[in-house]
Amino acid sequence: MGKIILTGDRPTGRLHLGHFVGSLRRRVELQNSGEFEKIFIMIADAQALTDNADNPEKVRQNVIEVALDYLSCGINPAISTIFIQSQVAELTELAFYYMNLVTVQRLQRNPTVKAEIQLRGFSESATEGDTTQRQGIPVGFFTYPISQASDITAFRATTVPVGADQEPMIEQTREIVHKFNATYGETLVTPEILLPTNAVCMRLPGTDGKAKMSKSLGNCIYLSDTAKEVKQKVMGMYTDPNHLRIEDPGQVEGNCVFTYLDAFCREEHFAKYLPEYANLDEMKEHYRRGGLGDVKCKKLLIAVLEEMLEPIRARRHEWEQRIEEVYRILEEGTAAARAEAAKTLNDVRNAMRINYFADRELIAEQAQRYREANAN
Ligand code: TRP
Repeated sequence: MGKIILTGDRPTGRLHLGHFVGSLRRRVELQNSGEFEKIFIMIADAQALTDNADNPEKVRQNVIEVALDYLSCGINPAISTIFIQSQVAELTELAFYYMNLVTVQRLQRNPTVKAEIQLRGFSESATEGDTTQRQGIPVGFFTYPISQASDITAFRATTVPVGADQEPMIEQTREIVHKFNATYGETLVTPEILLPTNAVCMRLPGTDGKAKMSKSLGNCIYLSDTAKEVKQKVMGMYTDPNHLRIEDPGQVEGNCVFTYLDAFCREEHFAKYLPEYANLDEMKEHYRRGGLGDVKCKKLLIAVLEEMLEPIRARRHEWEQRIEEVYRILEEGTAAARAEAAKTLNDVRNAMRINYFADRELIAEQAQRYREANAN
């Protein structure tokens, strides 16, 4: 059996460098490797709505942004199927059955959900009609890991390339698969997570040096930022607060500029932009010793980022002229995705024996039983 990829993003904003190093870049490589029989890339609008119920317009507007980001990064719709989650109704039906295989207690232990509850300010003790500002946890939000299991299993995905924050979701999916197969017979495929290989790429910090690049923290460099915006953001980046004068020794660890160089810079960039160093290690060494200023480091980073972002920006600009075509791509992708999910849903119903009208044996057996009962 061939390998199948399913992955996706919530459309709550344009995609940024964190998405790029964490997953997008890898997806394009995987796509072009030719190793996969099928690749599904999902715009997870239904999942985005689980904590944006009051703001459907934000989600609606960002579907196209995410699609444009995909296409401009090199996701090729002739190879990869891009689709919109909410338009594949089969996914919600699968989730409804999987809910019976997961306990509330297990969901409560999911560390990503826990962290998001904190981040969103949902209160575990708020009750309905709470008169304070506290908001309880929406059931749909709480159960989204189960819906994510549907996303993955519906396409019989073997491989889920995602960032480290998604690990608990894949773990929970695997548990659901095992439980389902043990209860109803071998039906679903157990997926493997595919994490970024490079440690820096696991979690790219924001431009402020905070743990993670995130829209809500306002510390992102977007794939669609202009050259001017990229430059401004890099120039304002967090470095080493104790590196005041150029001659001072500087710290590389926790210094955002170096973290980004670790993620994006290759040896050939030095020959091209900063030939006085052979590689990043030499440059770091100089910074540690003292005598290397932040501006010089930032200028290198800008050059490296621009080399990568400029072609993405140019392709985005082309696709922006063809919005109708992008929606056609999404519509066709969604139809193809639906056909796949329908097959799995059919297998699931058969395995659970809730396929009444197709179940000739059930009908014949019950008819026979009643005939016999009434004959006596
Ligand atoms: N949870 C993912 C995110 O927040 C999006 C997502 C939804 C997803 N369903 C998925 C990712 C299935 C991988 C597989 O970005």
